[in-house]
Formats: sequence, structure tokens, C-alpha cells
Amino acid sequence: MNEAMRAWLDAPMDRRGTHCEKWDGLKTYFGRDDLIAMWVADMDFPTVPQVRDALVERAKHPIYGYTDLSGETRRAEVGWLARRHGLRVEEDWILYSPGVVDSLFFCVDAFTDASDAILVQPPVYGPFYRAAELYGRRLVRNPLRLDENGWHMDFEDLEAKLKAGVKLMILCSPHNPVGRVWTREELQRVVDLTNRYGTILVSDEIHADFTLGGRRQVRILALENAERCVMLTSATKSFNLAGLRQSSAIVPDAGLRKALRATMERAHATEANLFGAVAQTAAYTHGDEWMDAVNEYVRENRDFAVAYLGAHLPEIGCRPQEGTYLMWMDFTGLGLDHDEVKLLLINEARVAINEGTFFGPEGRGWFRMNLATQRSNVEQTLENIQNAIRSR
Ligand SMILES: Cc1ncc(COP(=O)(O)O)c(C=O)c1O
Repeated sequence: MNEAMRAWLDAPMDRRGTHCEKWDGLKTYFGRDDLIAMWVADMDFPTVPQVRDALVERAKHPIYGYTDLSGETRRAEVGWLARRHGLRVEEDWILYSPGVVDSLFFCVDAFTDASDAILVQPPVYGPFYRAAELYGRRLVRNPLRLDENGWHMDFEDLEAKLKAGVKLMILCSPHNPVGRVWTREELQRVVDLTNRYGTILVSDEIHADFTLGGRRQVRILALENAERCVMLTSATKSFNLAGLRQSSAIVPDAGLRKALRATMERAHATEANLFGAVAQTAAYTHGDEWMDAVNEYVRENRDFAVAYLGAHLPEIGCRPQEGTYLMWMDFTGLGLDHDEVKLLLINEARVAINEGTFFGPEGRGWFRMNLATQRSNVEQTLENIQNAIRSR
């Protein structure tokens, strides 16, 4: 990253008063607004300049009617996936949907029925559980394991559970919140196992553009025998466009695609967001340099936070995340219960961090910190936490 880009990302960014959930929603979600907002997963960085220009240009035309998503929008997305991820997809495999979570719900609705089971890998992003609950499906848990080498899938348990009958598995890749970038070998094992037991694999890859200096995330559709997998992805997380509500479900199998499209049409969810489409197209066309710089900036924040915790707060456990901009932190070593830590963070440290219980009961005593922000916010947050703990 050049110095001008670093200075641009580093510049203080006041988001208050911009309908911003992360900063304007502090009082609603945390009970007070004098906090550093290190929670919900969007970034405090300005998006790609060409995205802003494209939105402003389009906004000058005074009609914002129903939106056509053929042609340019699809080409830009296919181009990004090929250029950045070495993945070839056909333009007509893409179904547009308002959000990745919406797509998860549509997949459950389209591919399963009342008697079916859905498998998830806790601790994991809360709406994965909701996808099963909402439709009254049985939830099967294949918890991740933490050992001295980090977080892993438990393949023995996974196979036993798939064998017992699971219609759909929801994979998080990279994994939110534990931050793993799954290896090609791990992913191929998941694909092979789901194929063997007739399970449809839906891979939520919304964080796939964030790999912090190590290997890139292998996209599920780039693996062998992945024809019956569904890949959920979006430019909204990658380029800080979440308020524009736009995402893609990429489905190579014609039968699955037809079923998913029918469900989305029933819910009237196939109409696109005009500004989402404009922004996504510009981002996927012009966003390479920006994306590389943001990854580097977040990696430096991660390295700073890991070093700070090691030096000043060794009782807080954390595994440096390989992907995503989210740091999964274990506060159980403090000897406080979950709610005491929560109150300490809000009322003493004055920081807003996600509670681990959002990711399932395995997250009790854990908290998730968003590192996609200016370095000064990361420094101040860690210092505040240290002071709050030391002055107890
Ligand atoms: C794993 C994962 N999936 C989906 C989403 C949200 O996606 P969307 O806003 O497109 O519904 C998030 C947001 O944090 C996420 O972490």
C-alpha cells in the first residue's frame, strides 16, 4: 500500500448522523452512545472512489425505477471472481438476492422440508441458526474444535451426523467468528462428504475477499465435484456497501437453481436494488487496488491487536484470524461471568463489541471485535479494555 492510500484509510471518519447502525445505533443496542463502535461488520473506511462517482453519476438521472441486471453487472462479477479467485462461473448461474442472509433463508425454504435436518458449525454467525428455526427444521450441530494449533472442523463428528441424515449444510467460509480460511484439503473433504451422503452444501462466502496476507480463500465452486454446491457471495461486505442491500447466490446445478429462483420469486425478492447494482458493478470493475490496501491495513490492525493482547492482556485469549476483519476473543480467563464482562466493556471500557452468545451458546464469555477501522480506534479500544480490567 502506498503512503497516500494508508493516510486515506487512516484519516478519522465521522459516521455519526449518516443513518449508520454501527455508530448512530449505539444507544439502541448498547444503552449509551459514548462508546467506540467496534461491533457490527461494516468498515469505517470510505469505499472505492469509482463506486462513489458511479453512484453520484447515476443519481443525477431523476428516475430510479425497476432495475435491469443483465449484461454489465453480471460481467463485472464474473470478471472479479475469475481475476481475484481463479473461479469460472457462468453469468446465468447468478441469482441476485437482497442479502446473503435472505439467500440462506430462501435456500432452506427451497431445498428442505419440515422433516429435514440442517447442519451448522458452531460457534457461527447467528442467522445460520435462525435459518433452521424460522422454517421449523431440525438443527444439527457439528461444533468446531479449538486446540493448540487453532480452530478445526471435527470431520469424524461431521461424517457421523451427515450419515444420520442431513439435507443441507451451511458452511461459513472464511469462518465468522473464528476467522479460519479453510484450506483446499479441508473444503474438499466437506464437499466429498456432503456428496457421499446426499447433502446440499450452501457456502456463505461473504467474507472471502478478506484474507490477511496468507493464502486466499478457495471458493467452494472451484473444488472438484462441487456441482451441487451453492455459493453465497456479495460485494456489500467487501466494499462497504451493506446499506445498499445486494447479493448473489451462484448455483451451477440447473435443478437447484430453478427451485431457488421459484422460492425467491414467490417472496418477490428478485427485484434488484438500483444503487446496489451500480455500486457492485463499479466495485468489481475498479476495486482491486483498494481491496489489496484494505486487506493490508486490516492485517496490520490484527497484528497490532495480537501483539498488544500478548504484551498487556495475556489473560484474554485470541487466535490471529486468517480471514475476515473480525477478531474472536476469549474473556473467560478473567474469571468473570459473561454478563459481568459485557457490562465492564460497555460501562468501564466504553467500547461496543459483539457478544459471543450471538454465535451460539459456545460463545459465552467470548466477544468479537471489528478491526476494519482506523488504527487509532483499535489502540484506544485496547487501552480502554486494559485500564478497565486493571482498575477492577
Ligand atoms: C457470515 C455472514 N453472512 C452474512 C452476513 C450478512 O449478509 P447480508 O447483509 O448480505 O444479509 C454477514 C454480516 O456480517 C456475515 O458475517
